[in-house]
Amino acid sequence: MINLEKISEYADETAAFICGRAGPGPEIGLVLGSGLGPLGEKLEYPVVIPYGDIPHFVKSTAPDHKGRLITGRLGGKTVFCMQGRFHYYEGYSMAEITYPIRVMNRLGIKTLILTNACGGLNREFAPGDLLLITDHINFMGMNPLIGPNAAGFGPRFPDMSRVYTPALADCARSAARNLGITLREGVYLGYSGPSFETPAEIRLFQSFGASAVGMSTVPEAIVARHCGMKILALSCITNLAAGILDQPIRSEEVTEAAGRAGERFGRLLEEILRRIELS
Ligand code: HPA
Repeated sequence: MINLEKISEYADETAAFICGRAGPGPEIGLVLGSGLGPLGEKLEYPVVIPYGDIPHFVKSTAPDHKGRLITGRLGGKTVFCMQGRFHYYEGYSMAEITYPIRVMNRLGIKTLILTNACGGLNREFAPGDLLLITDHINFMGMNPLIGPNAAGFGPRFPDMSRVYTPALADCARSAARNLGITLREGVYLGYSGPSFETPAEIRLFQSFGASAVGMSTVPEAIVARHCGMKILALSCITNLAAGILDQPIRSEEVTEAAGRAGERFGRLLEEILRRIELS
């Protein structure tokens, strides 16, 4: 278990290790979600570090999450790409699953792109649709900032009124328009999993105003906001959520649908990276 009192010291240590292997200067953090890992292969001049080699990283146990850090160039930017993330349902603490975000902060990364696979809560959505996350609901029953405040990263009570940076959202909208890719928009609700939701829960989440549900992203976004990062979050809708169609949800369909959308997702991501203006 990561000791919160020491998290700042650990993050410095991990950042120094990564710098030693991959060199300094990553500009953008990118977390690849379920089924989207193959996008990591698009990076040019890649340096690959398995999570198992990285001090203080936990092991990636989720199916289809490769568990490798890849740094390299994509869309004209130097990207720190996580090919697979850590989830709360894997049994790790919130501090452990969000630790890589704190390492990115220590590496000087100020812009973060989070991606995931999610269930759609809107009947008009179809598997394979891409969605821009405009806000989130933390329904995970836990907040990653609970515990002693790591003041070296940010304040005790960070503002969450604009988690997802409007300028980055505009960048994603214009990139999608330029490529002729339909980009849905909506509120993402983070649920712990690993069981999928019940139809009654999905009806509740619809009444909350959520458009998408998934088992990640929210803790990372909270920790990234805490340390002042700009955030863009994109989902691939892999299925309609429980009870919307009269059929069970299979995890294989999630990975398959994300895999099928991968090429389109990759083109969008590259175009977004090209358009992002670093401050
Ligand atoms: N629910 C939760 N997480 C998910 C889903 C879902 O329906 N699809 C992909 N990730």
